[in-house]
Amino acid sequence: MDGQETIKRGAWGSKTAFILAATGSAIGLGNIWRFPTMVSQNGGAVFVLVYILAVALIGFTVMLAELTIGRHTQKNPVGAIGHIKPRSPWKFIGYLGVITGVCILSYYSVVAGWTIGYIVKTATGAFSGEVTSQLTEKIYTEFTSNPLQVIFLLFLFIGMTTYIVSKGVKKGIERWTKVLMPILFLLIIFLAVRALTLPGASTGIAYYLKPDFSKLSGTVILFALGQAFFSLSLGMGTMITYGSYISKSDNLVSSAGWVTFSDTLIALLAGLIIFPTLAFSGQPGDVGGFGLVFKIFPIIFSQIPGGYIFALLFFSLLCGAALTSTISLLEVPVAYLVDEREWSRKKAALIVGFLSFVIGVPAALSFGGMKIFTRIDFFGKFDFIFGNISLAVGALLICVFVGYVWGVKNAIKEIFSGNHKFKIKPLWVFSLKFLSPLAIIFILIFIKKLVSG
Ligand code: PFF
Repeated sequence: MDGQETIKRGAWGSKTAFILAATGSAIGLGNIWRFPTMVSQNGGAVFVLVYILAVALIGFTVMLAELTIGRHTQKNPVGAIGHIKPRSPWKFIGYLGVITGVCILSYYSVVAGWTIGYIVKTATGAFSGEVTSQLTEKIYTEFTSNPLQVIFLLFLFIGMTTYIVSKGVKKGIERWTKVLMPILFLLIIFLAVRALTLPGASTGIAYYLKPDFSKLSGTVILFALGQAFFSLSLGMGTMITYGSYISKSDNLVSSAGWVTFSDTLIALLAGLIIFPTLAFSGQPGDVGGFGLVFKIFPIIFSQIPGGYIFALLFFSLLCGAALTSTISLLEVPVAYLVDEREWSRKKAALIVGFLSFVIGVPAALSFGGMKIFTRIDFFGKFDFIFGNISLAVGALLICVFVGYVWGVKNAIKEIFSGNHKFKIKPLWVFSLKFLSPLAIIFILIFIKKLVSG
């Protein structure tokens, strides 16, 4: 039965192909665009430290839990939870994931659309000549506040995602990620080396790597935890959906470990490019803002011979990395509609894609395109609610579900089904049952306090 099911839904070609695809979901704008922005808004190195702890202690735990549910049930999040605990309110985890997927896809695609705009800008010579921070600021502001342009790019990006998802999981995702990720990795290492050798880089390095503990606060921990879930694609069932395509003989623990490790490595390297370059351009580390990456990368390219080519390559790869992530965001609601509601894949992709586009419009207009959305910072609020809170709530519920409802014993049986070693089992169980849920609850209570003043 399992075997047949696997064939029908299309299993991953191999373990490597699965890891590549899950990495493709994890690595995206979250690492290169959102992570440096969060570091810059939350006190620099101290955020980085809390982030690493959050990934190692909580992110990895949730990653393994999601993959285990996915492989065990071979289903989308709603179906998976329903399979383990039929007709129970726990299905809510799945529905929350579906809604969160649609909402993150909508504003994420706004920034993904910007990457297309920056490919065109680079190609048409916007960054030729001397590139100062004033110039990149001006280009960014003019670009993101042009309403028709950003809406068109949002439409284009969601359109591409919808097209690929409507063609089916395996063909769509595997092909892309295999080529994309290794090149992105090499380029990022190269850029980090260049950034570290820029004059004045040391101030940026210190901001990024030398923690100032007086800046540690509940907000810093909240954003670090949210960023860990966002970057690892956790808390909304993406890894349940992807885990459903892993074969029974594969090692879940090492798969989870590889995805977590490579995702974190790319984020940390992105910071090593941004902060030294920021210091080189004479700006403090905490300038923040969602435009940070778009304003800073053109500066480093201007410091490299043949920078034009590197800039084109970088924005293209960033666009591709965003695409493998948006595919996974759309895949969650689509897998639900296909499996549970028996919609055709094409219809599901088209309708959900269109819905995300509509929700994405106010987010696209939050950067000067339309006064009202700019004033209320629709984009920032949406990102906070879905990119932080909703994922954290989802991750909490997944820990409780696996730890107490499905039961650790059953989960471990699934993890062992390929007969692999699981040396850190006691640590995982401790984190799943106690550390992760308590840490997330603590942080969620803290937000309530923050909001109510
Ligand atoms: N992890 C992706 C990134 O870092 O860009 C974004 C993302 C994808 C978040 C899928 C959540 C998700 F389910």
